[in-house]
Amino acid sequence: MNAGILGTGHDYPEGVLTNADLEKIVDTSDEWITTRTGIKQRRKAADNEYTSQFAVRAANKALEDAGVDAKDVEIILCATTTPDQILPSTGCLIQKELGATNAAGMDVFAACSGFLYGISMVESMIRTGQIKHALVIGAEVLTKYVDYTDRSTCVIFGDGAGAAVLGAVPEGKGILATKILSDGRYEEQLFAPGGGTKLGTTHETIDNRDHYFKMRGNELFKVAVRSMSKISKEMLDKAGYTVDDVKIVIPHQANQRITDAVASRLKVPKEKVYSNIAQHGNTSSASIPIALDECLKDGKIVEGDLVLMTAFGGGVTWGGTLVRF
Ligand code: UT7
Repeated sequence: MNAGILGTGHDYPEGVLTNADLEKIVDTSDEWITTRTGIKQRRKAADNEYTSQFAVRAANKALEDAGVDAKDVEIILCATTTPDQILPSTGCLIQKELGATNAAGMDVFAACSGFLYGISMVESMIRTGQIKHALVIGAEVLTKYVDYTDRSTCVIFGDGAGAAVLGAVPEGKGILATKILSDGRYEEQLFAPGGGTKLGTTHETIDNRDHYFKMRGNELFKVAVRSMSKISKEMLDKAGYTVDDVKIVIPHQANQRITDAVASRLKVPKEKVYSNIAQHGNTSSASIPIALDECLKDGKIVEGDLVLMTAFGGGVTWGGTLVRF
């Protein structure tokens, strides 16, 4: 048996933050954001909304889609960089809300690559028969970690959650190749230094805005394109396919120009590379599962299709996964 994706779901806040709204907050313009990122709007959680709420709704939709009862899930991995709180893990809070009384819940902390990290981790558990069903969720409320005085980061991030139920599928289907990697030397290209054991939470860290994400977008851009293109090729080679065999590529929705550059390096026509960044912005670990669910529900992916997913994020982290539906 292989591990496969049995069902998916997604959810996001009702609140919308448009480029016009941002023009009123920071020194930016719709024209700059659109041409440099492809983003037109992003979802924004209300003050009383938090990550696990979106995760639970996405997870319930995925369970219903898969026809799997929450009590039959044995592990819940919540990929998030924006947890509800430091302790306990968001995975535990989701486990409680779902009534998944036979599951272990925990978080995967791998920034935008978190969903593919989660997929990679449960893949072998299912393939070897250690567990029957897993729930992998990517969920973020990034707008609460974004510094709205820093125009180079605040315009790209948005909120949302996507989930997938995984279980055994016949050989030839499901996950055909998957790989995750990290390189901590690039730590300071995207980081939030405050609040941990290194700097703690002090008046100084708050005044320095160290609890917010800081990003060297331009440097990250190049590493993102290089890493996602390389690992995508590796996944195809490993499984013995070429890009021509792939129905759709779902890259992490970081920036439309990153997506276009990856498509060009892989020599895939743009029509075969999914993008929803105009509506959602960059939702970090939620971007791939939201995109995947949209593709499945819109009929862009049907049974038998080969789908290539690739992610890149702070850490830096990256990953690739090739799936036959
Ligand atoms: O999710 C995974 C991790 N994240 C990423 O992979 C993000 C990767 N990086 C990016 O998406 C892009 O680098 C950004 C969208 C963040 C920035 O775009 P860029 O084309 O790399 O711009 P830049 O940082 O090179 O800045 C170019 C200019 C600068 O002005 P000067 O110095 O040339 O006068 C910036 O100050 O654009 C300016 N700028 C802005 N102008 C208007 C930066 N942000 C803005 C803004 N509005 N929001």
